[in-house]
Amino acid sequence: MSILRDKNILLGVSAGIAAYKTASLVRLFIKAGAQVQVVMTPASKDFVTPLTLSTLSKNPVFSSFYDEQDENAVWNNHVELALWADIMIIAPATANTLAKMVSGDCDNLLIATYLSAKCPVYIAPAMDLDMYKHPSTIHSLQSLTSFGNLIIPAESGELASGLSGEGRMAEPENIVDFITKDLEGQSPLLNKKFLITAGPTYEAIDPVRFIGNHSSGKMGFEIAEAAARLGAQVVLVSGPTNCKASDTLIKVIPVVSAEEMYMVCHQYFYEADVMIASAAVADYRPKNIADQKIKKQEETLNIELIKNKDILQSLGAIKEKQFLVGFALETENEIANAKAKIKKKNLDLIVLNSLQDAGAGFGVDTNKVTFIDKDGQIETLPLKSKEAVANDLIAKIIDTIL
Ligand code: CTP
Repeated sequence: MSILRDKNILLGVSAGIAAYKTASLVRLFIKAGAQVQVVMTPASKDFVTPLTLSTLSKNPVFSSFYDEQDENAVWNNHVELALWADIMIIAPATANTLAKMVSGDCDNLLIATYLSAKCPVYIAPAMDLDMYKHPSTIHSLQSLTSFGNLIIPAESGELASGLSGEGRMAEPENIVDFITKDLEGQSPLLNKKFLITAGPTYEAIDPVRFIGNHSSGKMGFEIAEAAARLGAQVVLVSGPTNCKASDTLIKVIPVVSAEEMYMVCHQYFYEADVMIASAAVADYRPKNIADQKIKKQEETLNIELIKNKDILQSLGAIKEKQFLVGFALETENEIANAKAKIKKKNLDLIVLNSLQDAGAGFGVDTNKVTFIDKDGQIETLPLKSKEAVANDLIAKIIDTIL
C-alpha cells in the first residue's frame, strides 16, 4: 500500500516548460490512491491546459482568485485549499516562483495558497542550467529550505534551451519516489498493526439499565491518533464514547460490554504487533440480565455480580511477538502494585495513573502518568495533555520495539 493513499495532495504548477510533465505527475498520484487538486499560475496555462489537469485530477483547477469572465464568480479560497492539503508540491517551480515564495510576493493564487499552507511543502525546481546555478536561485532554495520546505533536486540532462546540464525538473516518478520516501521516514510505524482498547464497558442489568463507569475514552483515542500519525494501522475497540477518530488508518470497532470487547480483542490480537489496553473494563457484570425492566418493589435490591474475564491478562497468557501495554489505576502502594500487575498479566510496559494527582484521570483533558517497563525501569512524567501523554507513550514503544 502506498503511503500516498488517501492523502490530499495540492499540486502547484508554475510557468516552465516542464509543466507538461505535471499530467504524468497527477496520474501517478491518483494511481497511488491520493486525492489531487491543482493550482496554476496564470502563465503556466500556456504550457499545459487546465482541462488536462482537471480531467486527470477529477477536480476543478484554480488559477485566479476568481473567474473574471463569470459575472457570478465565486472567490477561490486559497486558505481552504491550503488547509485541505496533507502535502503541497510545487512542480515545476520556476526561478520567478521560487523568488516570490521567498519574499511572500503574493500576486497570484499559487503563492497565496503556498503562504497559507501548514502542511509539508515539496518544491521541484525547473529552469535552465545557468539560472539554476545563479546565486539568486541558490539563495532562494536555501531560504525555502530554512522555512522548512523540502527541495526535490533538479536533474541533469538535455534542457529546453538546447543546452545540457543541471536544471531539468525531476522526472514525475522520481518526484513521487522522493515524497514517498520522505513520508515513510516520518512514519516509523508504517505497516505496524496496533490493537487498542478504549472507553468504559457497560454491563447490562435489564433492557434499560447498566453498570458503567466515567471513562471518556479520550486517552485511548489519543493513543490511536498518535500511533496512526506515525503510520500504524490501528484497530480501536471502544466502549460507548463520544470520541471520534479522525485518521483514516484507525478502524473503530464499537462494543458495549466486556464480553464483546474480549471477543473482538481475541479476533485481532494474532495479527497485532502492539496491544495497548487503555479501556476501563468493568471487573464484574450482573449474573442474570432481566428480560424486562426491573420494577421497583422492595426497599433494597440485590444484584448478583460475576467476574468478567480480564482481557489483558488473557492476551498476556497467549502472547507471542506482541508488545503488550496495560494501564493501572492505583490508590496505594502504586509502584509495587503496578509492578505486580506487569508480572501477573505478562506485560512489557504499564502506564500507571495515580488518582492522587489533581488533573489526572477520568473526564479531564490532562493526565499524569508513570511508565514502568518489565525490567522495572521507572519514568515519571509531569502533568500533560492526554495528547502529549499519548505521543510520549508511542515514542517509548518505538524506542523499545524498533
Ligand atoms: N483490564 C482488562 N480487562 C479487565 C480488567 C482490566 O483488559 N476485565 C485491563 C485494563 O484495560 C488495564 C489493566 O487491565 O489496562 C489494569 O486494570 P485495573 O482495573 O487497574 O486492574 P485490575 O487488573 O482490574 O486489578 P485491581 O482491580 O485489583 O486493581
